[in-house]
Amino acid sequence: MLDRAVQEKLVRKAIEVRGHAYAPYSEFAVGAALLAADGRIFTGCNVENASYGLTICAERVALFKAVSEGTREFEAIAIACGKGPCAPCGACRQVLYEFAPDLTVIMADAEGGSVREAKLGDLFPKGFGPKSLGT
Ligand code: THU
Repeated sequence: MLDRAVQEKLVRKAIEVRGHAYAPYSEFAVGAALLAADGRIFTGCNVENASYGLTICAERVALFKAVSEGTREFEAIAIACGKGPCAPCGACRQVLYEFAPDLTVIMADAEGGSVREAKLGDLFPKGFGPKSLGT
């Protein structure tokens, strides 16, 4: 279990950044806050596109921001959605698994306040990662 204060901070940041979501098509705003091993927190929101398919999820925005700034080790991610806590989509599970197979995933309902916690390995068992390539 992630430390309660850390969990609360990550959820707060995920809810905050959810306010920047660009989701005119789905009207489903998502925010994510990714905790790096060095203590830095990278945030992201979903950014949709008129072509639909080029939409990028909040979790991947947060991860790509972190990696592009030189950070590759992560401990936890909080994801904030409306209408109940939501789990990361399959594409985001794959992308997170690349860098953090042991990641703690906190799923928060931004409106109702409920929070669930899981390990990425349980959400994405037997994942395909760098080790699968023998690297
Ligand atoms: N979305 C995320 O940002 N993260 C997820 O893990 C699930 C889905 C976004 C993509 C799209 O903008 C909207 O939620 C509805 O699918």
